[in-house]
Amino acid sequence: MAALARRAERLDTLAQELGDAVEPIAADITDETSTQAAVDTILAGGPVKALVNCAGGAIGKDPVATASIDDWRAMYELNVLGTLRMTQKLLPALKESSGTVLVISSTAGIEPYEGGAGYCASKFAERVMARVLRLEMIGEPIRVVDISPGMVHTDEFSMHRFHGDAAKAAAVYAGVPDPLKAEDIAECVRWALDQPDTVDIDSIVVRPRAEGSYTKVYRK
Ligand SMILES: NC(=O)c1ccc[n+]([C@@H]2O[C@H](COP(=O)([O-])OP(=O)(O)OC[C@H]3O[C@@H](n4cnc5c(N)ncnc54)[C@H](OP(=O)(O)O)[C@@H]3O)[C@@H](O)[C@H]2O)c1
Repeated sequence: MAALARRAERLDTLAQELGDAVEPIAADITDETSTQAAVDTILAGGPVKALVNCAGGAIGKDPVATASIDDWRAMYELNVLGTLRMTQKLLPALKESSGTVLVISSTAGIEPYEGGAGYCASKFAERVMARVLRLEMIGEPIRVVDISPGMVHTDEFSMHRFHGDAAKAAAVYAGVPDPLKAEDIAECVRWALDQPDTVDIDSIVVRPRAEGSYTKVYRK
């Protein structure tokens, strides 16, 4: 399994944890040359059975009236165009192996919220991309799966959103009993991919029990 991200040292740590199961490939999916080099390495390794488009995130939480165009551009480059770039490059190989394109989008791509226009718009776009690809691939030996998580307490998502403001990042999860963990989403990915090739888990929406919607969250 190839694992892609920009920071090689974190990938190396992952590879040490998981042993030979992981081939670390440092790449930036917003950069054409870097992504092509990564894809060339992947394709040289043999058939490709699944692409998990996970790299993504929110940058900023400002109202439309005052949001930073640079923040929006960065979210579109990563969430929308990065996902498109990876998908386009691996689609031929995935078709050859009855493979799967899986997208980790978000409930932000289902229900928009104040301050979230840029992130929500990019996640709506990701979900639409997955939906349309699914329609376009009907009859082809390929599955397209969308997983839309709600609140997941990961290391860096909220830190990135709030430009490194640790207090604002911590407030997102304050008092919420058991937000989802990365492992919960990984289990959804594993389950969807482990179905027979002819069973397409079209869409999974997964939230912590304490979250009814982005704006309806139980806090102790
Ligand atoms: N956390 C949540 O509440 C939540 C909820 C719903 C959906 N999601 C979605 O789930 C996905 C994962 O989020 P997360 O919470 O795990 O965020 P995270 O902790 O910030 O992780 C993002 C991952 O993407 C990689 N990445 C970022 N930019 C990249 C680039 N340009 N090229 C290659 N890799 C890149 C990062 O590694 P490097 O920085 O080393 O590149 C990191 O491994 C995202 O698409 C996010 O929108 C998250």
